[in-house]
Amino acid sequence: MSQGTEPQTAPDVLRAWPKADLHLHLDGSVRPETYLELARELPGQEALTLEEVRAAITVGDGAGSLTQFLSRFPVINRVTQTAPALRRITREALEDAVQAGVRYVELRAAPWLHTQGGLAPEAVVEAILAGMKEAARQIPILSRLILVALRGRPEEENRQVVQLALRYREHGVAGIDLAGDESLHPTAAYGGIFREAQEAGLAITVHAGEGAGPESIWTAVRELGARRLGHATSAVQDPALLDYLREHQIWVEVCLTSNLHTGVVARLEEHPFRRFLEAGVPVTLNSDDPGVSQIDLAGEWVRAAQTFHLTPEELAQLALNGVEAAFVPEATRAMLRAEFETQIDRLWPQVTASRR
Ligand code: HPA
Ligand code: ZN
Repeated sequence: MSQGTEPQTAPDVLRAWPKADLHLHLDGSVRPETYLELARELPGQEALTLEEVRAAITVGDGAGSLTQFLSRFPVINRVTQTAPALRRITREALEDAVQAGVRYVELRAAPWLHTQGGLAPEAVVEAILAGMKEAARQIPILSRLILVALRGRPEEENRQVVQLALRYREHGVAGIDLAGDESLHPTAAYGGIFREAQEAGLAITVHAGEGAGPESIWTAVRELGARRLGHATSAVQDPALLDYLREHQIWVEVCLTSNLHTGVVARLEEHPFRRFLEAGVPVTLNSDDPGVSQIDLAGEWVRAAQTFHLTPEELAQLALNGVEAAFVPEATRAMLRAEFETQIDRLWPQVTASRR
């Protein structure tokens, strides 16, 4: 390596690198082109251009807020209210993941966001699971579904999300999540709903420490039973919390560009990713909302590798973390681990050579 030049891992190696995406919202994955087509089928919808669609459902790099970011979702979900639309966007989200070199996906969706056209929440879950099955027959990807309870929605709806997750547990649903606007609806209000899920042994992840401080993360872990956390960027404000996450192996699902787009960090260089690694907090790298943010997971790995100067060893560990953190039975984990290790071995000469 010549002095003064940073070693960099080539983007094509990172695209081929085995990846899991454990934090991927279905509605946040809708392609603008697909939105345009689905919108044309809506009654009374005026003709839109692709430019108008992009302006309405995506965000740019200017730092917004979580509330502004989330304002895109009611617009997106105008077109996600029928079973065929849900199957299609599910298949396409998985196709896009394969293009980014992703081998295992936990797609997440909030059933109640897709019932405005008369679908029952069970029908929403079944349409998404059907899309996942169709994709599995055609493209090399394994996927599971996480059902999302939402901050600010009626408690009865959220209780039903837990019931749905239990009912479809053996049929492709891997766990539950809590999403929505954390800056407006504190985590502590959701302990009751998640208690039931904990007692039933459901795998739990919670968006926490994104729009609120470390107290939200403490509550997610201690009262909601989270084994993984979405974002959790504010954990760096509390050294005792970092220790706790390390000691209890609570995984942080990092989503870099999303954190830029919600104004959680002003610049990627300020993101706590490297500090999590140094503190021994287990992390995974994920996309969050590739449609809204106009990204893919391969690109997120390139950003991570460049911004945080990740070594080949760290890249290998990060890939395997996606397997270790997955909400899957141990036999599936062992299968994925073997596959990831084989691919890492195959790419090792390239990942080390591209850095010279
Ligand atoms: N936070 C909370 N809810 C969400 C997000 C997020 O980043 N993305 C989609 N729903
Ligand atoms: Zn999210």
